[in-house]
Amino acid sequence: MILVTGGAGFIGSNFVLDWLATSDEPVVNLDALTYAGNLANLASLAGDARHIFVRGDICDRALVDRLLANYRPRAIVHFAAESHVDRSIHGPGEFVRTNVQGTFTLLEAARAYWTALDEPARTAFRFLHVSTDEVYGSLGPDDPPFTETTPYAPNSPYAASKAASDHLVRAWHHTYGLPVLTTNCSNNYGPYQFPEKLIPLVIANALGGRPLPVYGDGLNVRDWLYVGDHCAGVRTVLEKGRQGETYNIGGWNERTNIEIVRRICALLDELRPDPAGSYERLITFVKDRPGHDRRYAIDARKIERELGWRPAETFESGLRKTVRWYLDNQAWLRQVQDGSYRAWIDMNYAAR
Ligand code: NAD
Ligand code: DAU
Repeated sequence: MILVTGGAGFIGSNFVLDWLATSDEPVVNLDALTYAGNLANLASLAGDARHIFVRGDICDRALVDRLLANYRPRAIVHFAAESHVDRSIHGPGEFVRTNVQGTFTLLEAARAYWTALDEPARTAFRFLHVSTDEVYGSLGPDDPPFTETTPYAPNSPYAASKAASDHLVRAWHHTYGLPVLTTNCSNNYGPYQFPEKLIPLVIANALGGRPLPVYGDGLNVRDWLYVGDHCAGVRTVLEKGRQGETYNIGGWNERTNIEIVRRICALLDELRPDPAGSYERLITFVKDRPGHDRRYAIDARKIERELGWRPAETFESGLRKTVRWYLDNQAWLRQVQDGSYRAWIDMNYAAR
């Protein structure tokens, strides 16, 4: 069995669903159910004995020790984090607590557990840490994409907290020999993404007839990857990755934000036309994000060369699937747009 943290969030829930769709190996899913965690994402697993959900905090050492002792996982796949850059600007404390202290707590619990394992369980054990391309900082227009050896230069409180967690993971391998793997992935999109992030926010606002906020000049570039491809990449690294190594995961798919927003509008115009006119009429340029990184791009050749992973989805097919998913799951979307969601939207966008 494996222990997954943050498995009720966007990528974590996609990972758990994909895992149990392709394997019978049970999953213990530890998630605090913050605003970003949602058991509705896992509703299709109701009654499935292979999924054991535990509501709890990764900073709770006693709880993590208990889970490791009771379930004896062969691996920990660590997704749990505070993940939204704008929230990290408004309130960085929770990012340091969960992303740094939480990862430290997991590493220490994993080290104690792993040290006491018998062979061959000790040799087989893995701690897979899911991280981000944001740790590498911002690229200029002509810079080559980030590789695994690009120096760290995190710019937001979120990126700095993830960079700190990556350093802890590296040190636990170097110093204690803990068999770790780290993945640094680019921007994900797909089903179950909380509508604070660009793609689901634009879809949700368009469906509600609200402005589609584009920060600054809209020319910041991100490298977009369909979430199912990211999950396959994580599974591949867990299965075949060399311990102590990091693997960059990306979509070979750089787009400006304005291009993304226009593409979503075009898909909605086709799939759910608005009698009032094209959704593009709702595009609104707003004040930029402080410290906004200009460009991210991932060089994903190492994971392809060493482990044979490549994204399966094209941006066209992935975005179409995603827009359809939100159209087909408007009850899910309404459910997450609760009071605390509206309070966040008011706070983040009022002053822009
Ligand atoms: P998310 O915000 O959707 O989900 C995070 C999950 O972690 C939630 O279910 C939340 O309840 C849980 N969580 C938060 N604090 C916790 C705590 N203290 N204890 C236990 N659970 C806690 O995030 P996501 O977008 O699914 O990202 C998952 C991971 O992937 C993160 O580590 C993130 O840094 C990384 N990542 C995300 C992206 C992206 O584009 N979304 C890209 C690259 C890497
Ligand atoms: O690169 C990987 C990272 O991608 C992950 O580590 C983060 O967890 C994830 O949130 C994401 O970070 P970004 O800041 O790139 O994602 P976000 O969806 O917030 O923004 C994408 C781009 O769109 C960014 O340039 C900011 C811009 N944006 C965002 C929002 C929410 C807008 O123009 N308008 C908006 O309303």
